[in-house]
Amino acid sequence: MVPQQIERLQKLTNEHLHGLCDVLVDCVEGGASVGFMSPIARERADEFWNRVAQAVATGQRALLVARDELGICGTVQLILDLPENQPHRADLAKMLVHSRARRRGLGATLMRAAESLARDCGKTLLVLDAVTNGDAARLYERLGWVRVGEVPNFALMPDGAPCSTTYYYRSLSVDSVDRHIHETTTGSQAQSLCEGFDPPHKLTG
Ligand SMILES: CC(C)(COP(=O)(O)OP(=O)(O)OC[C@H]1O[C@@H](n2cnc3c(N)ncnc32)[C@H](O)[C@@H]1OP(=O)(O)O)[C@@H](O)C(=O)NCCC(=O)NCCS
Repeated sequence: MVPQQIERLQKLTNEHLHGLCDVLVDCVEGGASVGFMSPIARERADEFWNRVAQAVATGQRALLVARDELGICGTVQLILDLPENQPHRADLAKMLVHSRARRRGLGATLMRAAESLARDCGKTLLVLDAVTNGDAARLYERLGWVRVGEVPNFALMPDGAPCSTTYYYRSLSVDSVDRHIHETTTGSQAQSLCEGFDPPHKLTG
């Protein structure tokens, strides 16, 4: 079964935490460079998702999950607590699809859902990084993300081999900016484009 429904979690239960740990462990043990070394202990994964749960509860992160008949099989996050001079921006992070659910379009569906959620949060710019020339980089380029450049030896693969990272961005405002340029003749209308922004709650510690 390929899940089409993407759900935003506002409060994480133990069942959510369990499923998210399964996905993270599967990805790291499958060789994905997503911030952890192999072997990843269950406690380490648990620790990570508990921190995410706190950030979700305070509005610092937004978390999306997809499910299949076995539970959570994919997830992606928006990091919303950026510096106060970047209220229009979010980082996209921890895009993870369990190996059992890959290559059926779920990655693309999660990305589209994250972009849509970012728009709903008033964001007009998303940034992410991915292992250069990896599966994820291919996905992002296919979806129209713009390649910024590569940082050699940025991180380690789970087995310890160094890898390069490529940064990407996606502007979510092109349509509205085009419309704005077409329709706007006064400064007050420009002002109204910004009024929907709802700057994220800032991290205090
Ligand atoms: C990168 C990742 C998220 C992609 O997830 P996914 O669900 O497999 O993504 P998609 O199914 O949308 O696309 C993957 C491939 O399947 C293909 N595909 C999609 N639907 C398909 C279908 N119905 N039939 C056949 N192929 C299909 C896509 O064309 C794409 O092909 P390509 O890799 O040759 O370009 C996943 O591989 C993953 O979680 N990797 C480990 C964690 C990781 O590296 N995360 C990125 C951190 S930056």
